[in-house]
Parts: sequence; structure tokens; C-alpha cells
Amino acid sequence: MNNIHELGKKILADVASAGTLEQVETIRVAALGKAGSVSSLLKTLGSMSPEQRRVEGPLINGLREDVASAIATRKAALEAHALDVRLATEQLDMSLPTHDISQGTVHPVSQVMDELAEIFADMGFAVAEGPEIEDDWHNFTALNIPPAHPSRAMHDTFYFEGGQVLRTHTSPVQIRTMTTQKPPIRIIAPGRVYRSDSDATHTPMFHQIEGLVIDKDIHFGHLKWTLETFLKAFFERDDITIRLRPSYFPFTEPSAEVDIGYRRIGGHRVIGGKPGDDGFGWMEVLGSGMVHPNVLKNCGLDPEEWQGFAFGTGVDRLAMLKYGMDDLRAFFDGDMRWLKHYGFGALDVPTLSGGVGA
Ligand code: DAH
Repeated sequence: MNNIHELGKKILADVASAGTLEQVETIRVAALGKAGSVSSLLKTLGSMSPEQRRVEGPLINGLREDVASAIATRKAALEAHALDVRLATEQLDMSLPTHDISQGTVHPVSQVMDELAEIFADMGFAVAEGPEIEDDWHNFTALNIPPAHPSRAMHDTFYFEGGQVLRTHTSPVQIRTMTTQKPPIRIIAPGRVYRSDSDATHTPMFHQIEGLVIDKDIHFGHLKWTLETFLKAFFERDDITIRLRPSYFPFTEPSAEVDIGYRRIGGHRVIGGKPGDDGFGWMEVLGSGMVHPNVLKNCGLDPEEWQGFAFGTGVDRLAMLKYGMDDLRAFFDGDMRWLKHYGFGALDVPTLSGGVGA
């Protein structure tokens, strides 16, 4: 018992005089570590008679607690002191220049995709997606483009060895949607498409957006209204004129190409205006039509019951027309100067203030 008392006094005195955290740690290991003096005492409890243990147990355990708490208190005091010293001696120079933090921009294609999704969301369209590696059936056959059909030659298709293709348009998403969802259907499908083609207005990878509406009693008037409303919202002007020109696509019947009116002002084409205006002209912006009965049948829909329209256009092209770039290849060069110039601030919302009908 005397022993315990003496040991306690010595350890507590050592702790009190420890001047550094390292010294405290050394004392802790010497007392409470595996082979420490207090730990060794604790081990002796096991070999004591019950009576002896009743007396010595509380003393030894008390010693362990006193030592542990003295160490913790001393440690906290030394740490607080160390912090005070740092606070008193270290300085933060607020006048130093900061590192130059360069901020990225949103690519015009991403910006325009967001704008399109927002415009069509206002009209009740959901966004649908499909894979970029497609099979022949979704990319061609189900869209009423059978093998050996001449329009296959118009798509300079990238083929894989197994017969799959890099999708040449977003139209296969029409098939994927009609085979997995029940009508009524109202979707847009933006995404990457691929064709073996490259010049100032063609890149091997580019972006399209597809639209599809399937319901009962859908007619050409719905298609025209939808496209007109969309183009007005996208170009943010009311003086848009469009012209539907008879055309041919295998997956629509009848089919129409959609032209938008522009005026040539100072060498630039500015969207808007009407025939008769100074410098007026038409330019093609969309393909469209009523979904071909064969396409509906290929997706298990009865053409007597369901009708619909579809349309498709190039997203990059729309971006060029709205924001005034003239070389499509620059979109995918990753040139920081181009991105800084044509990119959008990350926190800018799409520029459409009121949405469709506002
Ligand atoms: N898939 C056509 C293309 O890439 C564009 C297109 C035309 C899509 C007419 C349509 C449509 O949905 O109805 O050239």
C-alpha cells in the first residue's frame, strides 16, 4: 500500500513537471503502457487472495485513474499553450496575391441542349435516351429502312465487326421509346450521333435532337404548331416564319423539311422576318413528318389506333445559328480561347426568361 502511494506521488510529480507533449507521452508509456509500472501493478491483482484484492484493488485502480486523468489534464494544458504560442507568433499576410483560379465555361452544345430540354419540358415533353452503339434493327430496319434501302447509303455509317453501328441519328430512340412505353408518348431525345464525314460543317461526331409524339387523333397541324412554338422560343423572337417543304424520309409519311426565314444584314444571316423583307431567305433547319405506319407496326402499335409525328435536327447547327459560330470543327477542338469566347458561365441559366407562351 505504501508502495502504491509512493508510486502515485512520483508519477503525478513527473506529470506536473513535464514541459513538453513528448515528455508527457514518455511518462504515460512508463506508467500505463503495456509493461508500465501501473499496468504491472494491475496485473498482480490476479494472483492475490480475495481479501487482499478487496483492499488493494480499489487502491491500484484509483492510482490508474489518478494517473490517467493527470496525464490528460497536463496534455490539454500543453496543447492549449502550444496554440497560444502559434497564435502569438504566426502571421497571415492578407495582402499576398491569390493564385489565379481559372474558371471553366459551359460548352455551347451543353447550353443549347439545356435550352432545348427546357423549352420542350414547357410543352410537356420528357427527355429520352438511347445507346450510341446501336444494332441494325433500331438504327435502320425498324425505322422502315430495310437492308439494301438506298437511304442507307446516305448515312456514312461506322460499322463494328459484329454488325452493330455507331448510331447515325437519334431516330432509333423513337423505336426504343415506342417499344418500352405505352402511348401517349411525348419525348425529345438529344444526343451524340456519328457519320464518316468531315469538313467545315460536318464532323464525324455531332449532336442531334429527336422529337416524337404518339397519341390519338394527332395530325400535321400539331406538328406545325409544335415546331413553330419551339423555334420562336429557341431564337427568342416572335417574328419567326417557317415553311414546310415536302420531302422524303423512310420513317415518316408524309415528310417535310422545315425552313426558317432569315434576313441577310451586313453579311450576317439573322433569324426572323418574312418573305418580302430586305435580304430575306429560307434556310433548312429540321426534318419532320407523320410517323410511318410501318414504324408503328414494327413497334407493336396499331396505326389505326395511334398516330404521331416526329422531327429531328442538329443541335450544333442550332447553336451556330443562334450564337454565331461559323466553323463546326471548332466545337470539338478543345481550344481554350474558343471555349472562353463562346462558352457560357456555369451559373447562367438558359437565357429563356419566360418559357413557352410567356
Ligand atoms: N433522322 C434524320 C436524319 O438524321 C432526321 C429526321 C428527319 C428525324 C425526319 C425525324 C424525322 O424524326 O421525322 O437525317
